[in-house]
Amino acid sequence: MIEISHVTKRYGSTTVVDDVSLEIPPGGVTSVIGANGAGKSTLLSMVSRLLEADSGRITVDGLDVTTTDSGTLARTLAVLRQENHVAVRLTVRDLVAFGRFPHSGGRLSEADHRAVDEAIDYFELAAFADRPLDRLSGGQRQRAHVAMVLCQGTDYVLLDEPLNNLDMRHSVHIMRRLRTMADELGKTVVMVVHDINFAARYSDRIVAMRDGALVAHGPVDTMLTPGVLRDVYDLDIPVHELHAGPIADFYG
Ligand SMILES: Nc1ncnc2c1ncn2[C@@H]1O[C@H](COP(=O)(O)OP(=O)(O)O)[C@@H](O)[C@H]1O
Ligand SMILES: [Mg+2]
Repeated sequence: MIEISHVTKRYGSTTVVDDVSLEIPPGGVTSVIGANGAGKSTLLSMVSRLLEADSGRITVDGLDVTTTDSGTLARTLAVLRQENHVAVRLTVRDLVAFGRFPHSGGRLSEADHRAVDEAIDYFELAAFADRPLDRLSGGQRQRAHVAMVLCQGTDYVLLDEPLNNLDMRHSVHIMRRLRTMADELGKTVVMVVHDINFAARYSDRIVAMRDGALVAHGPVDTMLTPGVLRDVYDLDIPVHELHAGPIADFYG
């Protein structure tokens, strides 16, 4: 479980995350939605200790993220940041292998190598596995970063806009992988996604933020409604029921 309790973050006099309390149960996929600047990345960064909260408390699997030692935290939770500007001369394989660091301490075992190879294959990175990151397309680089994060093998996985720059094939590929991780391995996946229909199709729960606060959260069918979408985006969006579930029609 991820427990976020009365968490606030300010920059100067501006409150960008405002007294947020939220429990994310273990297992399953949760999508965080909301407009640009709503506070999604700030919240995820505090959960993954990339950023310190001004007040409040966050625990992941019972570990207080501010006091847990970094090795333990890195074996519990992996995070994909929204901006990936890692040292560009690293090859894809080096980057993915980096994900094993909390387990290997730098000396990869046979099992670590297998995990790296498997991730490279799954994300269709083999053709340029030995190429530096700065000689890849944006989508290829994004896939390499996702592969690294999943290679970490943690029970909790946080991804900030994992579908950035990705074509439909690779977007579906990643979403299916996350779904399988939740369903078959009991992982807890939390991600920021802008495409609400992707979020709806592949998530169990949706958390909606606006101006640093939670607008609403709950199971997908309670969230994909014209009322909630109006509250989140200030748009009147019809929602249709398809065989696979509700779909928001942004194209009218
Ligand atoms: N380092 C910073 N200094 C000042 N303001 C910031 C900083 N980082 C983010 N913000 C502001 O905090 C708000 C929330 O940002 P963010 O969490 O990145 O939003 P989201 O991920 O939902 O688009 C935005 O208004 C942004 O401009
Ligand atoms: Mg963001």
